[in-house]
Amino acid sequence: MQTIEHELAQVEALMQQFIVTHTNDEQLQESMRYSVQAGGKRIRPQIVLMMTEALGGKIDWNTYRAAAAIEMIHTYSLVHDDLPAMDDDDLRRGKPTNHKVFGEAIAILAGDGLLTMAFELLSHLTLPSKDSLHLIRLLAESAGASGMVAGQAGDILAEEKQISLSDLMFIHRRKTGKLIECAFLFGAILAKASHEQQILCHQLGQEVGIAFQIRDDLLDVLSTTEELGKVVHRDEALQKSTYPQLLGIDGAKAALNQRLQHANELIDQLSLDMAKIQPLQALIQRLQID
Ligand code: IPE
Ligand code: IPE
Ligand code: MG
Ligand code: MG
Ligand code: MG
Repeated sequence: MQTIEHELAQVEALMQQFIVTHTNDEQLQESMRYSVQAGGKRIRPQIVLMMTEALGGKIDWNTYRAAAAIEMIHTYSLVHDDLPAMDDDDLRRGKPTNHKVFGEAIAILAGDGLLTMAFELLSHLTLPSKDSLHLIRLLAESAGASGMVAGQAGDILAEEKQISLSDLMFIHRRKTGKLIECAFLFGAILAKASHEQQILCHQLGQEVGIAFQIRDDLLDVLSTTEELGKVVHRDEALQKSTYPQLLGIDGAKAALNQRLQHANELIDQLSLDMAKIQPLQALIQRLQID
């Protein structure tokens, strides 16, 4: 693989170019590009690229399209998550939130546009149609009413409530876990991994997905607005149900690191070329909080 920076630049360019060529209204286009261009860690596209490579697949335009589609869904989810009716946030990826710049109506429509465009982009895949359909179905299931959208509903409905750890896991698994799981599975499908490998990738995605939201909850308490590019201590203000709120800081850290440890074990079970799996291991390592 070229450097991950080079590969991500291709994904960025594809997202920008697709938005420009497939959006008619100028302000809508500007609003969609604003949130995509604002950056972010690009964890989900990185996972697609690294997993494809680790499993011996070739990085090509289909990989970029799949990675871009997931990132568009993720970006739309953030635009809507920040709306006054949801988490009511003013800062995202170090910039004013979409609705602060473009107004609520255009922010809602920009989210709608990005959501729909992700599937439009996948319809341009040049894989065997069975594989393209598999990716489209996976993304729909992960993003939709039994995936991320269900988790977001659960998150909102759990505000100002004391819920059980298993209820919290149910929410986390969907609102954040599903899309991350989807990124791992995209890599496996694009690399034409065996059935056994796909099962392991699915488990790996589940562990990293839950870990990622535990980490997000912890950072809201432990990090700074400057570092995160979003205002901290919002979960407490909104009386959200979170891991630190339920388990305490140390309990949440232990839960995070346990998930990551299990993720590492699953990677070992994939028995892949050490050099090829290293970027993914390093990415998982970076999620740890001591
Ligand atoms: C934030 O996701 C919201 C969650 C799903 C936890 P990220 O932490 O990946 O946000 P960006 O993409 O880096 O901005
Ligand atoms: C958001 O979770 C998950 C999404 C599906 C967008 P959060 O509400 O905790 O994400 P942040 O902290 O605002 O990034
Ligand atoms: Mg939220
Ligand atoms: Mg939020
Ligand atoms: Mg959060």
